[in-house]
Amino acid sequence: MKRRTFIKKCSLSALYLSANSSLLSGCQTNSIRYSPLLDSNERELIVSPSEFNQQSHIFLSHPTQADPICVYKTNEGEYTASLMDCSHQHCTVELVDEHFICPCHGSRFNLQGEVLRGPATKGLTRYTIQQVGNTLRISLR
Ligand code: FES
Repeated sequence: MKRRTFIKKCSLSALYLSANSSLLSGCQTNSIRYSPLLDSNERELIVSPSEFNQQSHIFLSHPTQADPICVYKTNEGEYTASLMDCSHQHCTVELVDEHFICPCHGSRFNLQGEVLRGPATKGLTRYTIQQVGNTLRISLR
């Protein structure tokens, strides 16, 4: 290989890696987990509705569960909160195009956590959300 060809290929590779690393960092930003405030009784997670100004969903750390809670603001302005723990054999589900999909055996759930496709037969654990003033309160009861 000629020196000029080699340098050209190295430059293109560096450009490709640079472009992809910025894509990857974009994905990481999307998957940030927030550790929300807990109320004094540790029964509610508290977040601000402004969290949804730039994004449709956030992932919250659960105080006692390994899997996060996905809080989603639908196009209709309603909030849903589901534990991302598959009811089949407890793999962590992934949020893909307004559905939760389990990477282990392919179960699929809607944003409300209801089963759309098995093998899971039971929905995801869901939490009620109340808007109180300028806060969203996710009940862990
Ligand atoms: S663990 Fe989710 S489908 Fe089996």
